[in-house]
Amino acid sequence: MLSGKKILVGISASIAAYKSIYLIRLLVKEGASVKVVMTPAAKDFVSPLVLSTLSKNKIAVALSNEEYEWENHVQMGRWADIMIIAPLSCNTLAKMAGGICDNLLMASYLSATCPVVVAPAMDEDMWKHAATKKNIEQLIAYGNTIINVEKGELASGLFGEGRMAEPEDIVTYIKEHFFRTNELRHKKILITAGPTQEALDPVRYITNHSSGKMGYALAEVLYQRGAEVILISGPVNIQPAFKGIQQIKVLTADEMFNSVLEHFQLCDIAIMSAAVADYTPITVADHKIKKKEMEWLLPLAKTKDILQTIGTLKTKQYVVGFALETDHEKEYAMQKLVAKNADCIVLNSLQDDQSGFGFDTNKITIIDKSGITKQFELKSKQAVAKDIADFIISKIHA
Ligand code: CTP
Repeated sequence: MLSGKKILVGISASIAAYKSIYLIRLLVKEGASVKVVMTPAAKDFVSPLVLSTLSKNKIAVALSNEEYEWENHVQMGRWADIMIIAPLSCNTLAKMAGGICDNLLMASYLSATCPVVVAPAMDEDMWKHAATKKNIEQLIAYGNTIINVEKGELASGLFGEGRMAEPEDIVTYIKEHFFRTNELRHKKILITAGPTQEALDPVRYITNHSSGKMGYALAEVLYQRGAEVILISGPVNIQPAFKGIQQIKVLTADEMFNSVLEHFQLCDIAIMSAAVADYTPITVADHKIKKKEMEWLLPLAKTKDILQTIGTLKTKQYVVGFALETDHEKEYAMQKLVAKNADCIVLNSLQDDQSGFGFDTNKITIIDKSGITKQFELKSKQAVAKDIADFIISKIHA
């Protein structure tokens, strides 16, 4: 996602500097080129050797190196697509607010032509001091972005506000705010994900093994490509990757149906990846149903087919269905494509190892209404989501 992006990480003196090791690792893993500039005092908190090994670049600390060669103080701020100062100490914050240029980190900051994001880290009393507040306001006025501190255990042993944001959250923040692409800009996408839960009584329900991972991965990838995403999700234990993804939680097939219909007309693309229950108990008991003597035949009613319904309602929308099959895969998937009037069907076969419910990987075939069949290798659900996104983008831009 950050492939080819040039990121300058600034590290100032704070106990939270240990987290910058992991931040750099995450950025490199995402494909970014990372350079690091640190204040001389930050060297007491984190080893430049570790940082240079992880970033695969030498670490800049002083305005001249040990051979007394001049380090170009504006080079890094001009090189970077974004500068992230994490942790930002109280002292470096004050210098940034005042424009004091007494080290290479400050020179890089003052000469940066890219956006600057800071993740402060300090004790609660320092964080709440009027001077700090004023300095933060000053940075905002300069156009810098502040990633808010978190509440928790602090280096002083006290508990309160002042912890640096977690590296994962910093990476997510910059991906969401600085590196979304424009491919699906102005496109509104509706995605269903997860299972549904059909209650029998106050303590029991009918459901299935869907984890929702595929739908959530799709929401993440399509949002990253610039789309506005509405994610209608059955009960799962995951959160959308980005704050800007609108998540609507539902429980039953009927709630999912109503929610999809409420949003469908304003959408450009609809992806029905949820494993919707096909049947629901005809009545839901008010009290816990007591054990029967021998057999118990449970009367069930068919749920409304969401994909089929939007297939009949669609005007401009590109509609994607999913099919999970154990046998006659392509034949059944083709039948669903036609019967539900989808534009394409993403087929997963439960015969493929490591594919389908619960796994982090999936192996799919996309069948298009024009008869095109595209088969993909076994991949992570994130990579599968990228393939599906590429396919949809190629179709809507065709
Ligand atoms: N689907 C839906 N509403 C339902 C049932 C299914 O929108 N009540 C959608 C799923 O989200 C998926 C597609 O229809 O995109 C196919 O779902 P699947 O469970 O594979 O097929 P069914 O139509 O339920 O048929 P069967 O269970 O007999 O295979």
